[in-house]
Amino acid sequence: MAIQVTINGKPQSVDVPPNMPLLWVLRDTLGMTGTKFGCGMALCGACTVHIDGVATRSCITPISSVAGKKVTTIEGLSPDRSHPVQRAWIEVDVPQCGYCQSGQIMSASSLLAQNPKPSDSEIDEAMKGNICRCGTYQRIRAAVHRAAGLHSASAKPFRLDLSDATEDALDEQPVEVGGAA
Ligand code: FES
Ligand code: FES
Repeated sequence: MAIQVTINGKPQSVDVPPNMPLLWVLRDTLGMTGTKFGCGMALCGACTVHIDGVATRSCITPISSVAGKKVTTIEGLSPDRSHPVQRAWIEVDVPQCGYCQSGQIMSASSLLAQNPKPSDSEIDEAMKGNICRCGTYQRIRAAVHRAAGLHSASAKPFRLDLSDATEDALDEQPVEVGGAA
């Protein structure tokens, strides 16, 4: 039976087994490869997406459990790379190979939506489940602080609320920050 889920503001109907991981659906069924596979066991954070705004490991999340919910992936964070976390990541030049970075960005943006000015220890706690084999942790922390500063200088909320207008823009210009598919 088809499962209804809203992904990046767009209603989707997917006819897949109910226990299929959300990550599989995103990458293999919908062709959205910005979300990465790392471990498949909730140990690395590469597959992080937002479910109703909360950072979640999509590799262990059955698609049936997100029926009727809102999923945001790296492709949906903003229509034009304007999200403060994306801008900060570019300014600080965080990525090396890039493979972990879409997961890092999704965890950071979820943190900032709940805590717009986190301390070093709060950043470390929120990001500790996201592993970077290139060791970009210092730049990640700096970029989270930078994103907090960019946010406080703007009137826009961190929390995502994708409208129909942004959905059209997303269709035209997918945003992906991360390594090779
Ligand atoms: S692939 Fe999901 S946490 Fe590693
Ligand atoms: S940038 Fe290479 S794994 Fe994080």
